[in-house]
Amino acid sequence: MSIKYDDSNLLSSFRQKNLNKFRPKTIESLNLLIKRNGEGNEFLGWLDLPNQKIDELSDLIKVGNEIKNSNNLLVCIGIGGSYLGAKAVISTLKPKNNIRFIGHHLSPLELTQLIDELNEKDFYVNVISKSGTTTEPGIAFRIIREFAEKKYGEKRAINRIIATTDAKKGALKKLADQKGYRKFVIPSNVGGRFSVLTPVGLLPIIAAGLDINSLLNGAKIGLKNSMILNDEKNIAIRYASNRSILYSIKKKIEILASMDPQIHYIAEWWKQLYGESEGKNGNGIFPTSVDFTTDLHSLGQMIQDGERNIFETFLVIDNYSNDIKIPFDNKNLDGLNYLSGKKLSSVNSKAYEGILNAHIDGDVPCSTFHIEKLDEENIMELLVIFEVGVALSAYNLGVNPFDQPGVEAYKNNMFELLGKPKNK
Ligand code: PA5
Repeated sequence: MSIKYDDSNLLSSFRQKNLNKFRPKTIESLNLLIKRNGEGNEFLGWLDLPNQKIDELSDLIKVGNEIKNSNNLLVCIGIGGSYLGAKAVISTLKPKNNIRFIGHHLSPLELTQLIDELNEKDFYVNVISKSGTTTEPGIAFRIIREFAEKKYGEKRAINRIIATTDAKKGALKKLADQKGYRKFVIPSNVGGRFSVLTPVGLLPIIAAGLDINSLLNGAKIGLKNSMILNDEKNIAIRYASNRSILYSIKKKIEILASMDPQIHYIAEWWKQLYGESEGKNGNGIFPTSVDFTTDLHSLGQMIQDGERNIFETFLVIDNYSNDIKIPFDNKNLDGLNYLSGKKLSSVNSKAYEGILNAHIDGDVPCSTFHIEKLDEENIMELLVIFEVGVALSAYNLGVNPFDQPGVEAYKNNMFELLGKPKNK
């Protein structure tokens, strides 16, 4: 187990009666998940994904490798769960990469810049939408498709476009069938935000050159450990139960705090996972995130001294693959020679300790996830712990973790405002 969770600071401040209430409640929630008889159980396909066999993924691996070996860019078009999992894994593990993400907003600025880049470089396109009807990726795909057809000709463009969508329904499925694009299916029993281990996440991850064997290993470890019906041994139970206790004592905002901007998109993925799963029926902890030490110089004051309705969960990397020493300077005009010879990682680690202690002193309940080092196995173990954690936490709250009626509301409003014909 390479993910560790240090909640000692929380436990020492919790009342025993809270622990006595929420630990057993969380174990009950885990039982609902294990027996698959809780609310939303038609969307539990994500629990099977860590145990997929590599041979079952051979088509996906073939296409992913074709893209990787071509040295082309891959333009991934998708929003929400159809983009954040791949973005989180790839940007964390391979920040310099051949994948471009678009279709997750409506701003023309990024899309026009991407088109400039695509004028210079060859590219494949992976359009990803479970419903096949979401406006943002739909528009981006129409623009990129037209560009690809102009650049490569309509026939050659077909082989460069891959659609990842529902097996049976949606405009994207219809379009892909008619055009003859290669297709991958998003299982109907897996919701968008739980889909990183389906073709939604795996195709871009393989195309970026990451190792999916290790990724699946990490997922298996994360899942196995998260299914243990023992609150001491199971991080997902402890994390979910701590969240429920904190919410019950009016801590309504959770800040996921990282010390490394490279893992920024893990937090973006986590925000979607927790926000969409829990924010229902007037309930839910508001998930937000900060990158330290950057955000100490903006939100630090509020965290230290603002309204005491927040708690903080740190994400800390214990070992770095790249590090740098602070040099000695004869003149020492900046007064920093007291740090010379130290590695930047050790200064970052002291910063973490300093922040943690200051925030605990400022009455912010804090706990920490430790990632032993950044690799496929550890990142996927962490993501699976968070997935199980949110299911437990939402069941504790009494809400269905697996639907997102609020997201559908905005989509429907937008369709109406844009005058979308009713039957499309
Ligand atoms: O988690 C979810 O279900 C949502 O965030 C969706 O992933 C998001 O709205 C995109 O939907 P679609 O894949 O249907 O385009």
